[in-house]
Amino acid sequence: MDHAALIAAHGSPLYVYDLDTVRARCRALKAAVPYAPFQPLFAIKANPCPAVARAILAEGFGIDAVSPGEVAMALHLGLDPQRVVYTENNMTDAEQAEAVAQGVLVNCGSIDRLERLAQAGVKRCAVRFNPDIGAGAHEKICTAGPLTKFGVPNAHIERVLEIERRTGIRVVGAHMHIGSGFLEPDAFAQACTVIFALAARLPHLEFVDCGGGIGIPYRAEQKPMDLAAMGRRLAADMEAFCARYGRRMELRLEPGRFLVAESGTLLCTVTSVKETPEGRVFVGTDTGFNHLVRVAMYDAFHRIDNLSRPDAPRRKVDVVGNICESGDIFARDRELPLPQVGDILAIRDAGAYGFAMASTYNLRPLPAEVVLDGGGVRLARPRQDIAALIAAWS
Ligand code: LLP
Repeated sequence: MDHAALIAAHGSPLYVYDLDTVRARCRALKAAVPYAPFQPLFAIKANPCPAVARAILAEGFGIDAVSPGEVAMALHLGLDPQRVVYTENNMTDAEQAEAVAQGVLVNCGSIDRLERLAQAGVKRCAVRFNPDIGAGAHEKICTAGPLTKFGVPNAHIERVLEIERRTGIRVVGAHMHIGSGFLEPDAFAQACTVIFALAARLPHLEFVDCGGGIGIPYRAEQKPMDLAAMGRRLAADMEAFCARYGRRMELRLEPGRFLVAESGTLLCTVTSVKETPEGRVFVGTDTGFNHLVRVAMYDAFHRIDNLSRPDAPRRKVDVVGNICESGDIFARDRELPLPQVGDILAIRDAGAYGFAMASTYNLRPLPAEVVLDGGGVRLARPRQDIAALIAAWS
């Protein structure tokens, strides 16, 4: 890939996604889970770029949506509503009515929502439980356990059963999502034990969804998750559960990051190189946490390569952005081939929760997105322009 040509054509900064990598991750996930029927879903919040999502749907995935916008995108992509699950959190009644009309299954994150769905005459839904065991690369992305807002506490299973008996609504899916970015399988396996125990109590079950959360090795020294081991254990637990339950049913997972993170790169251009009297070197760029917030928000680590000058003498530098905040930092004390003004840097593994979380803070437009597909390049979304930003208010 000629990065300089991409930037010349589409501007800098620029998000680039490689669809072959996306497809490879989809296939790796499917191959890792030796259980049938297995229905993986894509947590589209990680990367809603239609070209990326289409590549994943073509691999047989459904979509896990968490908002009316994500449901609309799933349907816009032509997905059968039956392959969309709406994992709600603090949904409004109007949003519920819309989802029901669209024919998507609502995955209830609270007893209140389950009650409202039943009152509306809905016959089928799923329930997201909080299995009380969380995991994740940072406390802000741990989504189970006593400190999180998500899911029906597992201790409230009796209330779920009572609503089923009283109203006739059928809980057809038992769901959990314990957190994001884990590379060790133990907490996930323990939480699966909890969700299978809850699932065993639900009389109308059709699937068990163990969520997403599989991490990727952002740092060179991190090892990827042992996907095969995780998949074998999950498949064996599911087999055992179905044998006890007396009926075979569908197993689901709904990863986001694992499918798309490594496919994405944020390209940017060096705008200044400043060495302070104390010897600190700030490498300034034409992007910032408005385009990739993960470092500022979760102390995340993203590898950075100097594409223009890979053989330059190495130097410890701080790579920073163009936003007016001191926290606008992509890397502190990172050893890099010393950049010069005009060099192109690649911020790696930016395909998940990169553009998806981008904002127009400081009234800086969103960058363009391009996809690489088997040697070809396609513009997925043009760079936003400042006039459009301003026009949104009028
Ligand atoms: N299912 C549900 C219900 C979720 O809430 C999430 C992510 C996923 C699946 C997918 O999780 P994944 O496989 O991508 O870990 N912005 C953060 C991550 C937040 C994840 C929120 N929920 C980050 O940049 O690390």
